[in-house]
Amino acid sequence: MEQRVLKIGLLGCGTISQFAHLPALMRARGIQLTAICDAGRDLLEAMGARANVRNLFTDYSQFLDQTDVEAVLIAVPDEFHFVLARQALEAGKHVLVEKPMGINSQECALLAEIVQGTGLKLQVGCMKRHDPGIVFAQQFIQERVGEVFSASAFYRDSLFRYDVQEAILPRVITSAQAIRPSKDPKTADRRHYSLVTHGAHVFDTLRFLAGNISGVTASLAEKFDQYSWHGLLHYEGGALGHFELSVKVNDDYVESYVVHGEHGSVDIRTFLPFYYRPSEVRAFDARTRQWHTPLGSDSNPYKNQIEAFARSVVENRPVNPDAADGWAAVQLLEAVEASVNCGRRVETGCLQTAG
Ligand SMILES: NC(=O)c1ccc[n+]([C@@H]2O[C@H](COP(=O)([O-])OP(=O)(O)OC[C@H]3O[C@@H](n4cnc5c(N)ncnc54)[C@H](O)[C@@H]3O)[C@@H](O)[C@H]2O)c1
Repeated sequence: MEQRVLKIGLLGCGTISQFAHLPALMRARGIQLTAICDAGRDLLEAMGARANVRNLFTDYSQFLDQTDVEAVLIAVPDEFHFVLARQALEAGKHVLVEKPMGINSQECALLAEIVQGTGLKLQVGCMKRHDPGIVFAQQFIQERVGEVFSASAFYRDSLFRYDVQEAILPRVITSAQAIRPSKDPKTADRRHYSLVTHGAHVFDTLRFLAGNISGVTASLAEKFDQYSWHGLLHYEGGALGHFELSVKVNDDYVESYVVHGEHGSVDIRTFLPFYYRPSEVRAFDARTRQWHTPLGSDSNPYKNQIEAFARSVVENRPVNPDAADGWAAVQLLEAVEASVNCGRRVETGCLQTAG
């Protein structure tokens, strides 16, 4: 049977929408891009022409009034996520909001509570969960690896990332009328921004693979205007893990995850997302003494996350990741910062399940 098509509106035509969301929305199955909103009229018209969408709005409230917008993909700066996601939920729209879900755990807790009362879906834009290599690894861990005792992540952003992006991505169109945060988050607190913008993905992926993390002990080296966070992760189930998050290094982009359990192991190498190259995975099943490695064919994670979101809404199934996951990732980021400041283990707090 044909799946019912979900009518989605896009809020925000900035960098990530131009690089990833707009091309993904134009190709995704099971959705129709029905409207676009951005405060920058010139930018909005350029993106409307690119996507062949005529319902264009500079005013968010008018955009939300449209009956053929059932769900909203929110791609605006972090500090606007909470307010604009709440407004969308109050207007009865399902929400796919970029990571991080909010700028602090209070915002995330509130948003999770609001979602629970509405019966609507809120998915957080952690598209790595929809990379076919990561999907395979997570299933392998669930079905074959068994109880995990070690799960670690290594993430090093490259000083040469922008040279690579310049080579493979379209030039970004900007607008003088665009709405921006009062202070540029990239420069106002570069240390915090570097941890959050990259860590939101890394910690979410670790939780997806190996479960809830209850505490963290972290340290930070800050030199030559670069940062390197290292830490020990304490999982709820008793497992331990390490993480390194370095922004940026004189090296290639590196992202990898290693998980060991009772009956096997998984080794993952993830690539810069804009390559649309699935993570390479080597998974070992000790019971059969065999290695397994998937071919990740449908590998645009941004497109996959939109399709998964649409299926969840249409079939009324849980989204991935949900509001509780978005909240947990922000709690972890806060725990890392707190641990760096106090020099001790910090607990992530009580995680609750949301819709
Ligand atoms: N998942 C990923 O791989 C990834 C990568 C980069 C950025 N991001 C996230 O994407 C989000 C957006 O980042 P960006 O760099 O594209 O932002 P950006 O500043 O380039 O663009 C945001 C756009 O939203 C518009 N906007 C903001 N508030 C509005 C409002 N109330 N009404 C109408 N238009 C409004 C602005 O006019 C602007 O054009 C951030 O949360 C960031 O963390 C995710």
